[in-house]
Amino acid sequence: MPFVTDDLRRAASSLSQFRRNAVSPHHERFSFPFFSGTYFSYRKIDVLRVAAIAKAASDSPSYLDVGCGYGDFLKRIREHVKNAEGLEKDAGIFYGLGVEKPDYIRIADAHWIDKKYDMVFVGWMEPGQDFRDPVAKNTDVIVTTLDQGISLAAEFDGHGFGRVARWRTPSWEDVNTEVMNRYYTKMPDERRKELAKMRGVHNLWYVYARPSAASRVRKALEAQLAGEDPRDRYGFEEVLDECGFGYLQTLESDAREPLWRVSFD
Ligand SMILES: C[S@@+](CC[C@H](N)C(=O)[O-])C[C@H]1O[C@@H](n2cnc3c(N)ncnc32)[C@H](O)[C@@H]1O
Repeated sequence: MPFVTDDLRRAASSLSQFRRNAVSPHHERFSFPFFSGTYFSYRKIDVLRVAAIAKAASDSPSYLDVGCGYGDFLKRIREHVKNAEGLEKDAGIFYGLGVEKPDYIRIADAHWIDKKYDMVFVGWMEPGQDFRDPVAKNTDVIVTTLDQGISLAAEFDGHGFGRVARWRTPSWEDVNTEVMNRYYTKMPDERRKELAKMRGVHNLWYVYARPSAASRVRKALEAQLAGEDPRDRYGFEEVLDECGFGYLQTLESDAREPLWRVSFD
């Protein structure tokens, strides 16, 4: 969606207004995902899974987050993968709003990735953007999150990669709808509960590797899952629980595998 500075300023002003009336400081990441969170919802276990996959290549892996925006997820990853870098096309999101750009985020277009990375992360790319070729050329391991039915150009099967594993978390919209109904809209409780039964979960996490890297990636993820502790968490995860997007929860409206459950291909 290339951002226009006026749109960004309007959105930033809505965020300031939202903050004045917010019921919880954790809500804004789901209502203003671009400024304060991510388009995909995550827990600390997702960060640790992705970090473990990156470390399958080396203890000090090179890591690139493509289209990282302001770098909310990247910042968390850097607590575990110290060399992690971001690539963001739109300089205006920083300079247009007077937001300081961290040194580890580079302003460039993903079509011009000029370096090899142990792992590339592509979080929720907007429709119309397709830089699978340059990404595939510069790594052996890719983790991508995509909104089911929207981000079509995020699948790397035809680019020399095979899918190793996948799991599902809510998108920001899945959570935001429930946050709005629950905390910011006057409606009878019964009505809200009826609406909550219709909630969906749309964000898919796909782990891809070249055949030469697939087995070490799989083993690293399996080892991570064996010691996974969902009680080790970020404060904002309480919103996911309150809104009915619990760890390993199955939704009434959607009897597929429980949320956050990893399936191996
Ligand atoms: C939908 S936002 C997602 C931001 C973040 N990854 C997330 O999931 O919350 C997509 C971001 O990718 C950036 N972007 C789009 N096309 C790009 C490209 N060709 N190279 C680098 N960044 C790009 C956009 O400017 C935007 O910041």
